[in-house]
Amino acid sequence: MNRSEEKHIYPIFDQILGRKEKEDFLKQKAMVIWMTGLSGSGKSTLAKSLERRLFEKKFFTQVIDGDNVRAGINNNLGFSEDDRNENIRRVAEVSKLFLDCGIITINCFVSPTRAYREMARKIIGTENFVEVYVNAPIEVCEDRDVKGLYKKARAGEIKDFTGISAPFEAPEHPDVEIRTDQSSIDEAVQQLLDFIEPRITKDRSDS
Ligand code: ADX
Repeated sequence: MNRSEEKHIYPIFDQILGRKEKEDFLKQKAMVIWMTGLSGSGKSTLAKSLERRLFEKKFFTQVIDGDNVRAGINNNLGFSEDDRNENIRRVAEVSKLFLDCGIITINCFVSPTRAYREMARKIIGTENFVEVYVNAPIEVCEDRDVKGLYKKARAGEIKDFTGISAPFEAPEHPDVEIRTDQSSIDEAVQQLLDFIEPRITKDRSDS
């Protein structure tokens, strides 16, 4: 007996319309573009512009953003190690559903440790996973302080704040690294497109 049978669960993955058919329908290859970086590094800003550019190029996408997800499906989670782990696990599983729908997702999560990101990569599958390091030095993020959270974290009003009182481990080998303090949004989006577009474009021979 496998694990699902022990739990009296009988998945029907093999019986439902598959990813390949949906990718053919959408004329694209599905992918998860996983953006990691400090709060305020520019993940959501970049995701919005990237999605707009992809949309103009007729790609079908979905942005999955930490703050949005934490206001909905993950509104029972905080920022302890266990909760962040569960946050990333659920989001990775949700992204897998989108993949099976043939959709390109752009995920914006601090995902501060290599272990969280490795878990996400494992759930999603390496061949479907593009890791983007949205890199701005902590001083720059703190200086921007768009949401006023760094100020609160420094004042001790928010505990376990990434970069201040909780760790951030930079990716060692990201597929793309964007220095948002050094390049414009347009330049950054172009850098992303150059990497992503060949990977999501369907060859005619594929269909
Ligand atoms: S993650 O660590 O679990 O990946 P996630 O990306 O979902 O984090 O959420 C991060 C967002 O939550 C930040 O952009 C910020 O707006 C908000 N936030 C609130 N408290 C914290 C905290 N302690 N550490 C980091 N971000 C926080």
